[in-house]
Amino acid sequence: MSFYDEIGGESTIAAIARGFYARVAADPVLLPLYPERDLAPAQRRLELFLAQYWGGPTTYSEERGHPRLRMRHMPYVITPEVRDHWLSCMLGAIDDAELDTQHHADFVDYVTRAADAMINARG
Ligand code: HEM
Repeated sequence: MSFYDEIGGESTIAAIARGFYARVAADPVLLPLYPERDLAPAQRRLELFLAQYWGGPTTYSEERGHPRLRMRHMPYVITPEVRDHWLSCMLGAIDDAELDTQHHADFVDYVTRAADAMINARG
C-alpha cells in the first residue's frame, strides 16, 4: 500500500488541493501571484502532483513532464513571507483532511521542506 492509498487516495488528495485553493482565493498576498483568474486548472495540477508524489497515479508527469518545481516557480517572487502564506493555506487544508497522526506529520514535513525550497527572493 502506498502512502496515497493509506490516506484514502484520490478523494483525500482532491480535498486537500480543493481546501488549499479555497484558501488561496481568500489570501490577498497569494492570489495576485496566480496568473490565471480561474484557479481550477492550477488546483488540478497540484492535485495530480501530490497524488504522484505520494505514490498514486503518474498522470502529472504524463501531462506536465518532470515536475522541476523549483524551476517552475522561478517566475513568481517567493519571499519567506509568501512561503508562510502558502504554508498556512496548505496546513489548513491538511488539517481539514483529518489524517492520522503519523500521516499528518509526514505530509506536513514534506510540504514544509518543499515550501522552504521554493523560496527564491529575500523578504
Ligand atoms: C512556497 C510558496 C509557493 C508559492 C507562492 C507557489 C505559487 C505557485 C504559483 C503562482 C503557481 C502557478 C499556478 C499554476 O499555473 O499551476 C504554482 C504552481 C504549482 N505549484 Fe506552487 N507555490 C509554492 C510552493 C509550492 C510547493 C511547496 C509545491 C509542492 C509541494 C507546489 C506545487 C505546485 C505545482 C505542482 C504547480 C503546478 C506546476 C505545473 O505543472 O505547471 N508549489 N505555484
